Amino acid sequence: MREKINQKSRPDPITEKDLILIYLNEKRQFLVQVTPNLKLSSDLGEFNVGDTIGKPFGYVGKTHLGKEFYCLKPSTADLMMKVKRTTTIVYPKDTGFLLLETAIGPGSKVIEVGTGSGALTLVLAKFVAPDGVVYSYDRREEFIENAKKNIERAGYIKSVEFFCQDVAEQGFLQKGVDAIFIDVPEPWGIVPKAAQVLKGGYHVVSWSPNVEQVKSTVDALQNYNFIRIKVSEIVEREILVRRQGVRPRERGITHTAYLVSAQKIYGVRS
Ligand SMILES: C[S@@+](CC[C@H](N)C(=O)[O-])C[C@H]1O[C@@H](n2cnc3c(N)ncnc32)[C@H](O)[C@@H]1O
Repeated sequence: MREKINQKSRPDPITEKDLILIYLNEKRQFLVQVTPNLKLSSDLGEFNVGDTIGKPFGYVGKTHLGKEFYCLKPSTADLMMKVKRTTTIVYPKDTGFLLLETAIGPGSKVIEVGTGSGALTLVLAKFVAPDGVVYSYDRREEFIENAKKNIERAGYIKSVEFFCQDVAEQGFLQKGVDAIFIDVPEPWGIVPKAAQVLKGGYHVVSWSPNVEQVKSTVDALQNYNFIRIKVSEIVEREILVRRQGVRPRERGITHTAYLVSAQKIYGVRS
């Protein structure tokens, strides 16, 4: 037992090309890829990121002004929130919920439309790796190019194939996929194409900021043989724990998206 505990707590050394979260304080957190000569500077001082190579995750360093910084392992939410954005992105609270509304896991084949900045793509890739694949579609080549860089940096590029086309017009190139994730302004235009390539019994999910979009999406799902249609909103409230009192934070992200999930059946419903 003792041996097992020791093995588990063995330090995880930082190596070149690792992604680390440099944390100075709540307002100063940087996701960086470690390279030998990379310098990081803020108003709290500067330091050489390369000096962290060989140190363990959890290492505490000091800037040239003597301020402490912490070398932390980035969470999946950190990877999402710190992508270089060329579009709006999905949020971790909504992504976690919708992932569990599907049946996907390692080895699954899933479709995503649109790629956007790749925040969702990298989570899907992490989930289906090492043998699964994410077929990611976007009609804008420049968004795909940026997303590729974000996903490459996160380390999941091997699990993703990209396709530049308008799915509402041209549909998908794959058949028999395990789930379809839709994050576009007009999800109802994608539903007929999704119905053609999703495995029977499996899941389609979508994100929409406005109720009107949800209504049109649900109408389309009903018309294309989807059942168990569910619409949800996930509300997250951060709680401040401080000496002077414990209470919810006053500010923060309030609304992100309405979440739709449904399952495909075969045949015509009565
Ligand atoms: C909000 S962004 C997706 C953000 C992405 N989920 C993320 O987390 O980074 C929506 C994307 O859908 C793409 N898009 C919109 N309609 C499309 C369509 N009919 N076919 C393919 N891509 C589409 C847009 O070009 C845009 O990049």
